[in-house]
Amino acid sequence: MDEALQENRSKPIPDLSGKIAIITGAASGIGRQTARDLAKAGATIFAVDRAIEACAQTCAALPDRMSPLACDVTSLSSIQVALDTVWKDHGRLDILINCAGVYSMQPIMAITEAEYDRVLSINLKGLFFVSQTAARYMIKAGRGGAIVNVASAAGRRPSIGSLAYSASKAGVISMTQGMAQELAIHSIRVNAIAPGAVETPMWDAVKVAYGQDRAAGAPTVEASLLAETPLGRLCRPEDCADAILYLCTDQSAFITAQTLNVDGGMYFN
Ligand SMILES: NC(=O)c1ccc[n+]([C@@H]2O[C@H](COP(=O)([O-])OP(=O)(O)OC[C@H]3O[C@@H](n4cnc5c(N)ncnc54)[C@H](O)[C@@H]3O)[C@@H](O)[C@H]2O)c1
Repeated sequence: MDEALQENRSKPIPDLSGKIAIITGAASGIGRQTARDLAKAGATIFAVDRAIEACAQTCAALPDRMSPLACDVTSLSSIQVALDTVWKDHGRLDILINCAGVYSMQPIMAITEAEYDRVLSINLKGLFFVSQTAARYMIKAGRGGAIVNVASAAGRRPSIGSLAYSASKAGVISMTQGMAQELAIHSIRVNAIAPGAVETPMWDAVKVAYGQDRAAGAPTVEASLLAETPLGRLCRPEDCADAILYLCTDQSAFITAQTLNVDGGMYFN
C-alpha cells in the first residue's frame, strides 16, 4: 500500500455508494489517487489504462471496489470493449473521469507530425471518444451523470516549448464547455480541472525536459513556477482528486461547463 492511501486525511469523505465510475489514466499519478479516493467514497471503480499491470496495483488498494480495465484511449474499438464490460457488469454508468494524458516538450520548429498526432490523439481525441461512448451509456441508463476532464494550466496559457500539449489542454477546456451544453438535456454535467504542476511521474519528466533547456545558473523550472504560485507549493495528486470528487458529487449539482483551476492561485480565469 503506498503513502497516498495510508495517509490519515481529516477531510469528510463524500458518499458515492452505489455509483459506477470509470477513471482513465488510473495507473499513475492523479488518476490513481482519484480512483482510490472515489473507491473510498463508496463508488465501484473501473480503473482504465493502457498500463494494465500498474493499473492492477492501483486497484490492490481496495480490491473489493476496484477493477483494472485495459484500454488504449486512442483506439475506438478498445474504448468500446472496455465500456461494454462496465455496461454488461452493471447496466449503468454514473461517473467518468478523463485523466489519461501525455506531456510533450517539443518547440514549434522541432515538433514532428508523428509527435503532434500522438499528443492530440491521446489528450483530446481520446478524451472525446471516451466521453461520447460513456455518454451513450449514461443516456441509456437514464440516471444522468458526471464527467470530469483533466485539463491543465497550460490550457489557460501555453507553456513555451510545449505547444501541442498546451493546445490539447485548451481543447479540453473548450470541449468541456461544448459537451456540457449538449449533454445538459440528459442531466449529464461536464466539468474540468486545470492543475498547475502536480507531483507525479509526468512532472518528473517535465523537469528533466526543461532542465536540459536551461542556461547554466538560470532558476529551475520548479523555482520559476513556485515564484508564480501564491500558495507557495506544487499541486499534489490529492489536491486534484479532492476537486474532482467535488465535481462528481451532488455537492456540485448546479455546476456544469466549468474548468476549476487547481493551481495555488496562479491563474484567475
Ligand atoms: N503532472 C502534472 O504536472 C500535470 C499538470 C496538469 C495537468 N496534468 C494532466 O493530468 C493528467 C494525469 O497526469 P499525471 O501527472 O497523473 O501523469 P502520469 O504520467 O502519472 O499518468 C498518466 C496516465 O495516463 C495513461 N495513458 C497515457 N496514454 C494513454 C492511452 N493512450 N490510453 C490509456 N491510458 C493512457 C498512462 O499510462 C498513465 O498511467 C494528464 O491528462 C495530464 O496532462 C498533469
